[in-house]
Amino acid sequence: MQQLINAIPKAELHLHLEGSLEPELMFELAKRNQIELPFKSVEEIRAAYEFSNLQDFLDIYYQAADVLRTEADFYDLTWAYLLRCQADGVVHTEPFFDPQTHTERGIDIGTVIKGITRALKDGELQLGISSYLILSFLRHLSEEEAFSTLRDALPYKEHFIAVGLDSSELGHPPEKFERVFAAAREAGLRTVAHAGEEGPADNIWNAISLLNVCRIDHGVAATQDPQLVSYLVQHRTPLTVCPLSNTKLKVFADMSEHNILQLLDKGVRVTVNSDDPAYFGGYVNANYQALADALNMTDAQLRQLAINSITASFLPGEQQARHLAKIDSLISPT
Ligand code: ADE
Ligand code: ZN
Repeated sequence: MQQLINAIPKAELHLHLEGSLEPELMFELAKRNQIELPFKSVEEIRAAYEFSNLQDFLDIYYQAADVLRTEADFYDLTWAYLLRCQADGVVHTEPFFDPQTHTERGIDIGTVIKGITRALKDGELQLGISSYLILSFLRHLSEEEAFSTLRDALPYKEHFIAVGLDSSELGHPPEKFERVFAAAREAGLRTVAHAGEEGPADNIWNAISLLNVCRIDHGVAATQDPQLVSYLVQHRTPLTVCPLSNTKLKVFADMSEHNILQLLDKGVRVTVNSDDPAYFGGYVNANYQALADALNMTDAQLRQLAINSITASFLPGEQQARHLAKIDSLISPT
C-alpha cells in the first residue's frame, strides 16, 4: 500500500503555506532576521506541538509566522513545501496563504505574494508541479479588515484563483463574510471556506448558500446531518479533509473514529490533505498512510480519493484527464 500511495498522482487542495514551516527553517529564518525564538532547539519546538483544540494550535502557529519577514523568506517557505510535494507524488497543489498574519505585522502584501508566486513558478518549471494560490481571510478579524485585505490584494489578482476563510470557526460563522465573498466573486475569484471542522453542520450549509463556495475545507461535521450528506452527494461538492489535523486537534479522538471513508463510501467527493503538516506530523502521503493503518483503506478507496483530488481541483479538464489516465494505469477500475 505504501508504494502505491507514493506512486499515485495526487493533488493537494488544503494546505496552509504558513503551516508547512518546519522547525529547522523556523530557526534558520529567525537567525537570518535576528529574531529571538522562545525555544532553544528543534526538539523543544516539536515537543511543544501538543494541542487540545484548534485555538491551541492557532496561538502557536501565528506566533511562529513572525519569522517570515522578507520576499526571500516566503520564497524559501514555499519552495521547501514544493520539494515535499515532489517527494510525495503531488502533481498539483492549491495552497492557502493568510496575508493578514503578515500585514498585521507591517509586512507589505506584495512582499508575501511575490515570494510565494516566484517559488510556485519555479515549482512548475523545475519540478513539473502545477499550482493555483488561494488567499484566505482570517475569520477572527472583522469584515472590514477582510474588505481592506481584498482591496490591497486585487492589484495582484492574476496570482491567485480563489479566496478562502480560515482561523477560529467557533464564534465566526460564514455569514460574517457574506458581503466580502460576494465582492471577491464579483472580481472574478472563486470561493472556498473552512466549515464543519470544529463548528456545526449549519456552517457547511451557510458556506454553500451564502458564500457560494466550490469546495468545503474540512466539512467532517457533515455526518451530523443526513440531509446535508445527500446534498453533498447530489451536488458533487468536494470536501478537503485533513485526517492527521483532525486527530491532532481532537476533532476525532482517534484515527479509527475518523469518518472520511464512511463519507467516501456514501458517495461524497472527499479528498485527503495535510492542512499544516509541520505541526500535525506529516505531509499528504502520511495522511493517506494513516487511513490505511487505522481504517484498512482499500486500493479501490485509495484510487477514488486520488481521483477526487484531481477532479475537485481547479485544473482545466484536459490536464485533469492526463492525471486521471495515470491513476487508471496504476490501479484499474474494478
Ligand atoms: N489555519 C491553519 N490551519 C487551520 C485549520 N485547520 N483550521 C482553521 N484555520 C486554520
Ligand atoms: Zn486548514
